[in-house]
Amino acid sequence: MSRPADTTAAAAGSAPAAAAAGGVAAGAAAASALAAPPRSRTALGSAGGPVRVRTLSRAPTDTAVLVVPVWSSRRMPPHSAADLDLAFLEGRGFDGRLGETQALLADDGGTVIAVGLGDPAHLTADDLRRAAAAAVRAAGRASSLAMALLDGAPDVAPAVAAQAVVEGALLASYAFTTFKSAPRPSELRDLVVVSSSPAAAAGAARGAVVARAVHLARDLINEPAGTLTPRRLAAVATTEARRAGLGVTVVDEHAASAGGLGGLLGVARGSDEPPRLLELLYEPPGATAATPTVAFVGKGITFDSGGLSLKTAVGMATMKTDMSGSAAVLAAMTAIAAVGAPVRVLGLCPITENMPSGTAIKPGDVLRTRSGKTVEVLNTDAEGRLVLADALALAVEAGVDAIVDLATLTGAVSTALGRTIAGLMGSDDAWMGQVQHAALRAGERVWPLPLPDEYRRDIDSDVADIRNTGGANPAGTLTAGLFLKEFTGDVPWAHLDIAGTARSETDDGYLSRGGTGFGVRTLVELASAGSVALRVGATRRARWRGHTPAALLTSAAKTGSRRVRGPRP
Ligand code: BES
Ligand code: MN
Ligand code: ZN
Repeated sequence: MSRPADTTAAAAGSAPAAAAAGGVAAGAAAASALAAPPRSRTALGSAGGPVRVRTLSRAPTDTAVLVVPVWSSRRMPPHSAADLDLAFLEGRGFDGRLGETQALLADDGGTVIAVGLGDPAHLTADDLRRAAAAAVRAAGRASSLAMALLDGAPDVAPAVAAQAVVEGALLASYAFTTFKSAPRPSELRDLVVVSSSPAAAAGAARGAVVARAVHLARDLINEPAGTLTPRRLAAVATTEARRAGLGVTVVDEHAASAGGLGGLLGVARGSDEPPRLLELLYEPPGATAATPTVAFVGKGITFDSGGLSLKTAVGMATMKTDMSGSAAVLAAMTAIAAVGAPVRVLGLCPITENMPSGTAIKPGDVLRTRSGKTVEVLNTDAEGRLVLADALALAVEAGVDAIVDLATLTGAVSTALGRTIAGLMGSDDAWMGQVQHAALRAGERVWPLPLPDEYRRDIDSDVADIRNTGGANPAGTLTAGLFLKEFTGDVPWAHLDIAGTARSETDDGYLSRGGTGFGVRTLVELASAGSVALRVGATRRARWRGHTPAALLTSAAKTGSRRVRGPRP
């Protein structure tokens, strides 16, 4: 078997890649008993060092590992970058099924990894993402990789294919090693996408941006709740947002109180840590009042103990993950700024802990939310919908054209759809369809669930406008969705329940144990889809007000102006 001898590499383009992100501004100081993250580090996690991502028409001769595709039944695509010893592959039982890998030694001493792509007639971009991830895992600690996979996927557009290959490779090389004494992060430093298509370079660059954003989301999700408090999450988000060129405003507990954010404040009452409302703003160059605006709302519970409706030890063990929605919103918006999406994006993340204490809300308490609607809290563990109620109301007030929220909202969604498919609900079929298509393009699985009118009565309250549980109705995901719907007015709204998909329990393909960053890729696709797609319905139902909710709340708090909206709890 031989690798190509002549590699006068014509650089078709290059992209900055997963240069580790983020100076961690010290927000709230961590309690001294907690292992503090190293002060000098500039990244939250440890996805390894920066990776250079390039597109070349030939694989460099000095690449440590060359990855070539094989179709099922060991069929070779035309123009293979290496002549493989097919008898050897057969002897090893290698067939070419999707994601199958086999390392071979090349004549020049280098390594070739054959990766199966299965049947080319059914090959999708996500299959390429999986194949690239499998190859990276098979390559172990290699520092340079050349991926010659695009010729194996003739029906996937080169830009899309290059993006998927880079995403799969970089996501598979992620590991969270912040608190390991002897970390062994990925040693990948040079990733080459082999393609002579001019479109591949832009796709590879986009893939690097998206993968870097997913790494950021995973870092935030994997960071323990003891060190990632609401204040520190808001501070890290501020640093990341500024670096990305996003507008950012952090609403503190005083402004939240002046602004009547009773859902957020109610949940925060059990905690010693004050809550935050994080607002991010992306505006495309030349944006006007007529530029469509979409709101991304992310649940940001940095730890969910359940509150007085306390979870079990097993149930709360993974609850640092409960801010995955807000991590996805922040991370996606950094990528959206980098790729320059054509719509305005307002990110809103209500952030707090949910803790039990002498000051915690009690089952039976009533909260007055931003919208004016009162909520009877019958289970303090149904806290996500309480904080989202305020954020959704603020998005509606801001006059956005459409809303999508991401939330680790109900355990029940994994009973319905398992650990790889998120539940999609909403109020507008066209908008939900756009979210579903964006997810499909991004290779994230979502599936629509209904919000039946006949279940609405299950969230009726005896004493308040609405209650925060569905009572005896076992469809907990749907009654939670119906609760959120109450706060979305007539703005097209889609809700992704990511409680099942936010974590992975295995290092598998392009997922790694811990936070997955689910939703980041979908949100980037959605914003990139552009203005035409965002004009859901015949007429704009809302109008961007020209000022953001957080700006309004903070200035109102400063001038002491109070909203006239009856008593607050
Ligand atoms: N954060 C949880 C949902 C969750 C469960 C996420 C498991 C990830 C894994 C949420 O706040 C919650 O506790 N939901 C309750 C709602 C119930 C009390 C109505 C649930 O799903 O049990
Ligand atoms: Mn909960
Ligand atoms: Zn929760």
